[in-house]
Amino acid sequence: MNDSNSLPIETVRTSFTRCCAKDDFIDTFYHQLAFAAPQTGPMFANTDMEKQDALVRSGIEHLIEFAAGQDGVIGRIRELGVIHDRQNLDIPPELYPFWIDAMVLAVRECDDQFDEDLGKAWRAVLQPGIDLMTLIY
Ligand code: HEM
Repeated sequence: MNDSNSLPIETVRTSFTRCCAKDDFIDTFYHQLAFAAPQTGPMFANTDMEKQDALVRSGIEHLIEFAAGQDGVIGRIRELGVIHDRQNLDIPPELYPFWIDAMVLAVRECDDQFDEDLGKAWRAVLQPGIDLMTLIY
């Protein structure tokens, strides 16, 4: 169970909807990630970025649902954790703060209602799911 009531779920959900209206939201995110953590660039050398765009959008949706306390999504977050764990993609937990920073920078570019509080809201809502993913590593 999550402490769902204290998290700004709806604020982030509506911001995410505004971001998804921008075609280049995920593209912007990957540019920010490659800039903040250059070692991640080559990891996507053979990735079909069109498919990845849709997969990451739904991944974000799952992180939001997890923060909202929807128990049904735990399995999907665990699965994502396993996909990224040391036996599979081998993404070390130290890289995840760059992922979050890159996401907040992408939101800053894509959501015209962005302000510092909204950035904090995104960080707070993404964190529980990311914690579970990195715990699995
Ligand atoms: C810095 C941290 C991360 C790095 C470096 C990273 C890297 C990768 C890489 C290399 C792939 C495989 C792409 C391919 O198939 O070629 C991938 C897949 C994926 N990542 Fe990450 N990832 C990170 C964090 C996250 C987080 C926090 C999420 C949460 C939404 C996420 C969501 C996904 C999804 C949904 C896929 C596709 C999985 C599938 O094929 O079903 N990633 N990631």
